[in-house]
Amino acid sequence: MDRRRLIAGNWKMNKTPEQTEAFLDSFLRLRAEEGSSEILLLPPFTGLERAGRLLADTSIGLGAQNVHFEQAGAFTGEISAAMLLSCGCRYVLVGHSERRTLFLEDDRLINRKLRAAFSAGLSPVLCVGETLEEHRLNRVKERITSQLAAGLRDVDNTGISSVVIAYEPIWAIGTGETAGPEQAEETIGVIRGWIADTYGEREAAAVRILYGGSVNPDNTTSLIAQANIDGVLVGGASLDPDSFARIVVAADTHRGV
Ligand code: PGA
Repeated sequence: MDRRRLIAGNWKMNKTPEQTEAFLDSFLRLRAEEGSSEILLLPPFTGLERAGRLLADTSIGLGAQNVHFEQAGAFTGEISAAMLLSCGCRYVLVGHSERRTLFLEDDRLINRKLRAAFSAGLSPVLCVGETLEEHRLNRVKERITSQLAAGLRDVDNTGISSVVIAYEPIWAIGTGETAGPEQAEETIGVIRGWIADTYGEREAAAVRILYGGSVNPDNTTSLIAQANIDGVLVGGASLDPDSFARIVVAADTHRGV
């Protein structure tokens, strides 16, 4: 089981193209040498083109935060997978809880986006996570497995090999509260178990599953130390080059289990 760590920075609606360039100037200087983790940046759409050019000769990956499920056409305000690919994207987030709750994206729509992404050659990062109420009512497993089943509907074994899953408890996003490492590990274990039951042991051993929700340079090591946690999806703490670089170093230096 050799899953390369993935450290992803989701900038959400932050940074102009100029600010993207300033971030990359500093970050590339801080990250002069390549480490063991794969790094992925997810700027807003308007920063992708510039980031794609600046990252072209580096090992840092680029992804988008959203994609439309159709290839082209009369879909005002939307962006296709081909447009993302032409900016240099290799990944795209689907089903982030902010898309689900603020923009009313349901599992069916998320599934269409996910399938459009991997058919076009982008790796989808499927986000799943429970609300605080579901967490308190002990409904985490039920919620997560239903999001997986719906989000991955009609995805076969070839498709699953290009998917990354991010477990992001909604109550931990942007709140400063994190699921404890053992708690995150337990839920991520449930996700891997579901993949094993649905696709097979080999697929489950290969799929990368990240934790997200108030990740920072100080809590990365304990999260990464868990056997099933293959990386982190970082929001707020990825906006500052120094703090994001410290997260990457924490992930690189911990060998894990
Ligand atoms: P946060 O966001 O790190 O600011 O909590 C994580 C996310 O929404 O992906």
